[in-house]
Amino acid sequence: MRRDAPIGVFDSGVGGLSVLREIRARLPHEALIYLADSGHVPYGEKSPEYIRQRCRAIGDFLLEQGAKALVVACNTATAAAVADLRERYPQLPVVGMEPAVKPAAAATRSGVVGVLATTGTLQSARFAALLDRFASGVRVITQPCPGLVELIERGELRSDDTRQLLTRLVQPLLAEGCDTLILGCTHYPFIAPLLREIVPAEVKLIDTGAAVARRLDSLLAARALPGESAAPVRFWTTGDVQLMAKVLPLLWGEAASVSFFPG
Ligand code: DGL
Repeated sequence: MRRDAPIGVFDSGVGGLSVLREIRARLPHEALIYLADSGHVPYGEKSPEYIRQRCRAIGDFLLEQGAKALVVACNTATAAAVADLRERYPQLPVVGMEPAVKPAAAATRSGVVGVLATTGTLQSARFAALLDRFASGVRVITQPCPGLVELIERGELRSDDTRQLLTRLVQPLLAEGCDTLILGCTHYPFIAPLLREIVPAEVKLIDTGAAVARRLDSLLAARALPGESAAPVRFWTTGDVQLMAKVLPLLWGEAASVSFFPG
């Protein structure tokens, strides 16, 4: 495996860009490829088997592009498919992600933690195991958020629709005394500024992007695979190329060209 090979990062859509920015900040000398499976978004309401098939198609494509590591920048895809991907590509580091239950349980003062995530994540065996392991002594209230990912995919980070939906989703959690909210889907960090306006200042918002970048860093170091030179990120989508090119400046901070992956 070559050190200058790229890292393949993917999500059901553009949400994983919130993880990509953490990777870029921590590992500025890595070549990165990002694939948004926006032709099949949202994953949150799809079956685990459907998601596993999507992840295999995407993983094979990223390997064809020469990836030396894979990052599943999606909580829902991790829950459904990370074990399958690790079996399929035993030669590669495969980094997944889960809602940050452990840090949230440590951070709460009220003892009530809210989890915003997709239905798929919240119904998964991995999430149940996470709660068993790290949430004893804490009350965890889960909130699926259908419709939110679609708004973020369109770049509606501050629209009236997004504000109304988000308010409706978090109000019951606040009413139960949540002082810590887990952003358990990689799309949600993009609406954190709006969420900050909706929830009281003392409510903590916790996400996992930086932890994923740290884990990737240590896996690459352990395999003597750290990269040596930066290159522009290559972006791919299975969805609307023009829409992704339009939302990139908003979500990634700069314009870039986007290629179509029909897989
Ligand atoms: N961004 C994804 C996650 O982290 C899922 C969004 C979706 O496709 O439903 O869970």
